[in-house]
Amino acid sequence: MAIQKLMSHFWDGLKTGKFIPKTDEEIRKIINENHFGGEAIIELSDEDRIVIENEIFNHLKYRISKNLDLRKLCEQEVVYAPNDIRCGGFPCFITPDSTFDKAKEYFKKEKLKGNLLTKNEKIELFSNPDIWLNGRLYSGNSNSPMGSWGMRHLEAYGFQVNEFGGVIKRVKGNTGKNLLNVLDIGGAMGVALKDIKDFFPKDVITNNMTVDVEPVTYEFDNLYLCPGERFPKSLEENMDIILSNMAFTYMSGQNLALENCLRSLSVGGEALLSVGIGKQDSFVQDFSNRMRNQYDRMIDLENKGFIELKVKSGTWVGHALTYKPESESNNWFPPAWVEIRKLKSLK
Ligand SMILES: C[S@@+](CC[C@H](N)C(=O)[O-])C[C@H]1O[C@@H](n2cnc3c(N)ncnc32)[C@H](O)[C@@H]1O
Repeated sequence: MAIQKLMSHFWDGLKTGKFIPKTDEEIRKIINENHFGGEAIIELSDEDRIVIENEIFNHLKYRISKNLDLRKLCEQEVVYAPNDIRCGGFPCFITPDSTFDKAKEYFKKEKLKGNLLTKNEKIELFSNPDIWLNGRLYSGNSNSPMGSWGMRHLEAYGFQVNEFGGVIKRVKGNTGKNLLNVLDIGGAMGVALKDIKDFFPKDVITNNMTVDVEPVTYEFDNLYLCPGERFPKSLEENMDIILSNMAFTYMSGQNLALENCLRSLSVGGEALLSVGIGKQDSFVQDFSNRMRNQYDRMIDLENKGFIELKVKSGTWVGHALTYKPESESNNWFPPAWVEIRKLKSLK
């Protein structure tokens, strides 16, 4: 539902041949209903809500409405090259304004043969998630991926399949559950979740949390179109494995997302998170102080026996467990690989 609402203008544009972007009001409405709708585990302060909402709005406006590529796919003549004309292996789409010689040639030849994509052919091809994952668009002076975000497989999250199988086995033992809720914060179109479901179909329910989506996604069991800074109440102590790769880095409220992970983990559950350099600027200097407080809270929870905490950090900006914002000349809070194992309920 949420996916359809977010990208409906693109599908309408393919049908009619005219791309009509969503208005600011429509985008705000979607954000209000989805990203900030319903009850949260922890409600945002007014100040945080404004910052996070504006970030999502600006991002969505650019991604779904001002996206020139989407407009071109709807409105321009498009030729399909099932194998990349340059290096092979990727499905490719070419618009008439491509300045790339081989693409221009290919376009001309296919057009002469009458092989322009029809509206229905466009709809059929663009309904295939593999196209958004692997496809490339030759348009203007660029040759770029169809999808907008890095969309990585489980292995690129840092897990070999057998290693992830080990996590599932351990969490099953520690939670006493046979069917585990796996949440991917920033799961985009669900590539890693699909891998997990393919490898462990009987062991997992897949949950994707993301602020935006491609026009199509792979299948997952549940979608939460919301920011990591504000988790829906229904997730409280209900997620058994929480993953995140290349998503914290887009958050201005990383501390809030870490707190939500603590709250949403089931007892026995594990969060395995890549917490990259964040959007420090949104809360100016306060970002680092908030992160310091959040790490101190996690250290305290570990000392009191609520969680087990492992933090791998230590780069050019220091270590997340010991970094003291007030005495550092560099105000980038250190990125880290964070593992949280919940031992006791926080309810
Ligand atoms: C670069 S993609 C990463 C996709 C995938 N995890 C991977 O590693 O390929 C970034 C993802 O983070 C999501 N994202 C951005 N800001 C977010 C936020 N505040 N809360 C949750 N997810 C966010 C985006 O919607 C997108 O799904």
